[in-house]
Amino acid sequence: MTTLTENAHVRDLGNGAPLLLIHAFPLSGAMWQPQIEALAHNYRLIVPDLPGFGKTPLTADAYSLDDMADWLVSLLDERGLDRVAVAGLSMGGYVAFALLRRHRERITALVLADTRAGADSAEGKAGRETNAQLAENEGASAIANKMLPSLLSPDASAAATATLRAIIEGNAPAGIAAALRAMARRADSTELLADISVPTLIIVGAQDALTPPSEAQAMHSAIVGSQLVELANAGHIANIEQPEAFTTALQGFLNSM
Ligand code: MLT
Repeated sequence: MTTLTENAHVRDLGNGAPLLLIHAFPLSGAMWQPQIEALAHNYRLIVPDLPGFGKTPLTADAYSLDDMADWLVSLLDERGLDRVAVAGLSMGGYVAFALLRRHRERITALVLADTRAGADSAEGKAGRETNAQLAENEGASAIANKMLPSLLSPDASAAATATLRAIIEGNAPAGIAAALRAMARRADSTELLADISVPTLIIVGAQDALTPPSEAQAMHSAIVGSQLVELANAGHIANIEQPEAFTTALQGFLNSM
């Protein structure tokens, strides 16, 4: 993937210490709307649609999450931002690990939400390829139909479900497929955890079925000094399902630095 960012769709808004918000799969920067509304008064928020998602075109058919990390650093360079706090949810967390591996000097603090450090199992990789072909053959709505039940808790509101469906269906099938293949190829970040030396907050929805609290607890045990917040009544996309509690945890952490 090229690191050209000229067609990137990036919301850059608010005033204060910079915070990069990295979205989940198969969503876009739009998933951060509740946090944008709450935090833009006090932080400068950099909220990209990753390549192939939302309004940012796919710049190569095949890319890696390391390419994503380099692309994000290009966005920071263009803005003259030397160091930022980084928050990534799920796939956004995988990209945050790639940032740590390749550009750790750019990160002041880390928020790992509803994510995991490990790589995919062989079965997981095969499932990614099945879903990539589903996206290519049947479009984004087929991915929404398949994934929505696992993105939110069983008690999620109809509004939260509708919000996620609209974001997913706004994505190009080729972007969804490329990200699935990139996630399947991602490195295992487990050994990186012991080297994390910036303040770190881990957030997880108590009913997260994809990256459950046990994954969050494992990261918490391995990252010295990290904080762990488990949100009640929240599934995988916890920032949408419990926006106020998620923002409170995020803000409390950022304010404490
Ligand atoms: C996400 O929410 O980003 C995805 O569920 C991550 C994954 O599929 O591993």
